[in-house]
Amino acid sequence: MNRINIRNRGPLKGEISTPPDKSISHRAIMLSALAKGESVIRNFLRAEDPLRTLEAFRQMGIEIKDSSQLSGLSSEHNEIIVKGKGLRELSEPKDVIDCGNSGTTMRLMSGILAAQSFSSVLTGDSSLRGRPMKRVITPLTEMGAHINSDGDGYPPLKIKGSSLRPITYKSPVASAQVKSSILLAGLYCNGVTGVIEPGKSRDHTERMLKACGAEITIMDLTVSVAGTETINPLEMTIPGDLSSAAFFIVAGLIIPGSEIFIKNTGVNPTRTGILDILDNMGAHVKRENERDVSGEPVADLYVKHSSLTGIDIGGDLVLRAIDEFPILCVAAAAARGRTKITGAKELRVKESDRISVMTAALKKTGVHIEEFEDGLIIEGREDLKPVTVGSSGDHRIAMSMAVAGLAASGETVIENTECVNTSFPGFMEKLESLSRKEG
Ligand code: S3P
Repeated sequence: MNRINIRNRGPLKGEISTPPDKSISHRAIMLSALAKGESVIRNFLRAEDPLRTLEAFRQMGIEIKDSSQLSGLSSEHNEIIVKGKGLRELSEPKDVIDCGNSGTTMRLMSGILAAQSFSSVLTGDSSLRGRPMKRVITPLTEMGAHINSDGDGYPPLKIKGSSLRPITYKSPVASAQVKSSILLAGLYCNGVTGVIEPGKSRDHTERMLKACGAEITIMDLTVSVAGTETINPLEMTIPGDLSSAAFFIVAGLIIPGSEIFIKNTGVNPTRTGILDILDNMGAHVKRENERDVSGEPVADLYVKHSSLTGIDIGGDLVLRAIDEFPILCVAAAAARGRTKITGAKELRVKESDRISVMTAALKKTGVHIEEFEDGLIIEGREDLKPVTVGSSGDHRIAMSMAVAGLAASGETVIENTECVNTSFPGFMEKLESLSRKEG
């Protein structure tokens, strides 16, 4: 998929299922590869980012059976079987590990690789090579890791495995990738390793480590893990990704007459900032059938077109919706009045600089938008103009602008959209399935 051509096709109606969670898919591969024994992971996300993690462990000698490649395994459930050998049984990779576009692969793997008895090199695509890694290099180095980077903390990372010591790290940034990297390294330490965050980032690693039998303690903003000899295999089903559902939620809200049912969406409270923000904007999104799936809260979402109003967004909500800002900017563009986003500086170091990329893209649609260092102000308007924009190689920008295109009067073209496959292969087919009847 190189470009998306999209136009308003009337109301979105019907039912879709949410694709599997990307963050949880990465962690499921990592922890099952480090566990001793066979893990079964259902509903694994076969998108480029988590497949990078999967391939990295194959490079280190872990046998991973994938139902899409084998008969006999339930392909219907996207099942993966990982034959973990134990925390200290990975083999030295024969080649550089290519993390592609995936920050989660690189940052979490750094914590694991820093503790091995071999050396390794992590690299990635041009976007990932421009993303800051000092945030993991600093704490891991404090633990005794040997990591060399390019320039001032940019990939490739050359990691010489070492024996690590426990620390208690006060992180300057609330980041699940930083926290997880340290906790994974902490598994290899003799003693208890702690991370204190300035805000509570997503907690999938803690939940899954607990399920693997690791000793995890959580007190307010401090998470600690005790070093161990072994962790247990997993049997789990990965819930749907609210970050992927978000594109459909906003599309359903802003296209008049829409009514959609989004099944099987993760609603972990560390991720539901988008639902709270949209609720404050006047959205009709109802959670139904709330349940627990493998230790994660899950619900079905009923979304109905709503007239949204601009609001101020800041503080804790920013962290709990950190990946949803491109699509929230689209919701704000279609809302009545002014939306102000503050405290969102982290958006500048995601897969693209999401503040400046969304500002430029939405400006073209005729929206009045003002960018500042840690956020932006958007004045919503009723009629978005159709535009031709690039994706900046960022999957969430491409999908957000496709949703903006649905609300515009005329044809919108988004170029360079291969990046959608990093998190959501089949995105356009799903979107089209909701407007098929209107044809
Ligand atoms: C992720 C954490 C977040 C998020 C990213 C996935 C994870 O990054 O933006 O898409 O899986 O841990 P930060 O840790 O940089 O906030």
